[in-house]
Amino acid sequence: PASLRAAARGTGVRIGTAVDMTALADDAAYRAAVAREFDSVTAENVMKWEAVEPERGRYDWAAADRLVDFARANGQVVRGHTLVWHNQNPAWLTEDAFTPAELRKILRDHIRAQVRHFKGRVYQWDVVNEAFNDDGTLRDTIWLRALGPGYIADAFRWAHEADPKAKLYLNDYNNEGINAKSDAYYALTKQLRAQGVPVHGYGIQGHLALQYGIPDTVLPNVRRFDALGVQTAFTEVDVRMQLPADQIKVQAQAQGFTSLLQACLLARHCVSYTVWGFTDRYSWVPDVFEGEGSATPFDEQLQPKPAYHALRNTF
Ligand code: XIL
Repeated sequence: PASLRAAARGTGVRIGTAVDMTALADDAAYRAAVAREFDSVTAENVMKWEAVEPERGRYDWAAADRLVDFARANGQVVRGHTLVWHNQNPAWLTEDAFTPAELRKILRDHIRAQVRHFKGRVYQWDVVNEAFNDDGTLRDTIWLRALGPGYIADAFRWAHEADPKAKLYLNDYNNEGINAKSDAYYALTKQLRAQGVPVHGYGIQGHLALQYGIPDTVLPNVRRFDALGVQTAFTEVDVRMQLPADQIKVQAQAQGFTSLLQACLLARHCVSYTVWGFTDRYSWVPDVFEGEGSATPFDEQLQPKPAYHALRNTF
């Protein structure tokens, strides 16, 4: 096959990428590669709350709509990212400005407005992003403090009302293998399903780092979510390394990418595998992790690295 997209065809697993909207507009080679290599796209930033409602009550869907239009033109589906999070919220959204009752209404209105806007055009939503700490306790956020732990179930119910066909996901990092955090997700998912809350999927971001190693209980972890009857998805895969990159590291990186893809292909209900940027030309990693980079399957010249060929051959 000539592309990841062609290789993935017929496997039941979609191959996706996060999309940087500035690059999509300005860089023709980038744009061509998104269309050629992927059959699913996620907005890297433009569907986050700060982007869609920069001032209270003034919605700006323009950039997100451009991505949805691009996807439609290229026969791609769209993963929606993200409705409820503690990061990249608008500046006006602070705890001291509102009462808990007001925050509840603000959250409900936000979820309704956004899911309705994209109804029928976004097939999966990351409804709640990064709700747990690594030790399995709920993360201390504006939402937990104001609304209590029930905010998670409420968010899923509101999203489901707004688009009953969309698949609704929990999503987090450091939850690839079996550990305290994924145990917490397993327990929560089981509990929510027992209560009839519309949770349909478990999202594994998959931000790996070579220096910490590749988690080795990914398949049993994914399989236990299979058994709960929910979908799974790898939603933000990248494999960073301490710079400079070398031959050994980029080979090891290829293994990191493929081990997650293998788990997805071996699972029963793993429906997509998305990389968080496909080229080192625009990756978020060097900006956030000091001294690290080279985290994606294409280099800065948009040339494929060993990870690219390994992914293509794994499908
Ligand atoms: C990152 C983007 O890639 C950056 O451009 C932005 O500055 C910060 O957010 N987990 C997530 C993503 O769920 O939304 C984050 O994306 C990366 C970590």
